[in-house]
Amino acid sequence: MNILESIKTKLARKKAREVHYISKATIKQTAKENSIIIKTLEKKNNRRNVPEEEYLTKMRDPNNIVEFDDLHAYFFTDAGVVKAVDGVSFDIPKKSIVGVVGESGCGKSVTSLALMKLLQSPQGQIYSGEIRYASKTGKCYNIADVPKIDMNKIRGNEMSMIFQEPMTSLNPVFRIGEQIDEVLFLHYPDITKEDAKLKSIAMLKLVGIAMPDKIYSAYPHELSGGMRQRVVIAMALACDPNLIIADEPTTALDVTIQAQILDLLREIKDKIDGSIMLITHDLGVIAEMADFVVVMYAGRIIEKGTASEIFKKPMHPYTVGLQKSIPALNLGDERLYTIPGTVPNPINMPNYCYFRDRCNRRFEKCNGAYPALLQVSPTHSVACYLYDEIKTELEKKDGEKIAKK
Ligand SMILES: Nc1ncnc2c1ncn2[C@@H]1O[C@H](COP(=O)(O)OP(=O)(O)O)[C@@H](O)[C@H]1O
Ligand SMILES: [Mg+2]
Repeated sequence: MNILESIKTKLARKKAREVHYISKATIKQTAKENSIIIKTLEKKNNRRNVPEEEYLTKMRDPNNIVEFDDLHAYFFTDAGVVKAVDGVSFDIPKKSIVGVVGESGCGKSVTSLALMKLLQSPQGQIYSGEIRYASKTGKCYNIADVPKIDMNKIRGNEMSMIFQEPMTSLNPVFRIGEQIDEVLFLHYPDITKEDAKLKSIAMLKLVGIAMPDKIYSAYPHELSGGMRQRVVIAMALACDPNLIIADEPTTALDVTIQAQILDLLREIKDKIDGSIMLITHDLGVIAEMADFVVVMYAGRIIEKGTASEIFKKPMHPYTVGLQKSIPALNLGDERLYTIPGTVPNPINMPNYCYFRDRCNRRFEKCNGAYPALLQVSPTHSVACYLYDEIKTELEKKDGEKIAKK
């Protein structure tokens, strides 16, 4: 090999390293920058004896139970800042089911964890924005500002979370009954052991478990997946919540059981007279359940609207793609549609539409800056350049209206 060639290979290797690896110096620099930000944010989270007035606020609309307002939730990792949720705004109206949908890694779980203030700290932080929550007590909190210690009260008494895999919420070494009783003892410190047992059994009955007395003294491994999920729902109900966050509640279950659990969730929503934030990657589940739909992609909302708007008039090519990939019985042997490519990693995202490279309707304009969310009806918005003409028409109409006045 002559000298020129060896230099060329060396340079090529160096370039490859630059693309695939982050140098030690960069990691060190990033860690240093992160630690400054994390320290400031953690200091705010760990405050004690903060007067309530500091985190009380007002709802924009009194009919909402939750309002996400330009929420940014980041993970400060050594590889860079993961903008898992990057400017998300949507409402959860009282007594409604809001479906949050998107592929894996879109930031759905992080949005819900931010609402509960359960982001993996110290690297996971609500960086900016507001999450307004209308409490049972009539007060309204800005969750982003509530210190961790005060959050325990709000979270425990009013919100419940149901996870995908029931075994993560159940302890395998304790009987079912003991675990539900435990939740009751926490929420009603004065309750007697006998009353707790009666209430736990009633709760098991409420979630459709046959022979609740027997299940009360069973261990989690003795139950089927569907029954375990029912138990978890019973536990979630024990604190009498007015908001249930269900994160992929049926993903680990088979189809028939899935339908039963969804029916149960719907019944329970009416019983508690509250709201459900239903997170799923499956638009089919949302179709059956939700009143409003929020479609997320790579940490941002790309479309939101009422369920009928999203299903009858989907606008964003991503929403259309998700709908095409719902398995339907009448498709014959046609192969199921899949959107090509994967969700990009939300570190160092480019400033153009994140979906551009996977989109089958992209055109020249899509090379421009990230498209703004365009309101096409009072409840329906979409972030896509395909609808820019509508925007100019709307602006024209507005202009005419103003001119008439
Ligand atoms: N603890 C963490 N540290 C770093 N990155 C995380 C962490 N948790 C989630 N993320 C990143 O945040 C993004 C959103 O994740 P998530 O909300 O869990 O997605 P999903 O929509 O599937 O629920 C993903 O890119 C994920 O890699
Ligand atoms: Mg998730």
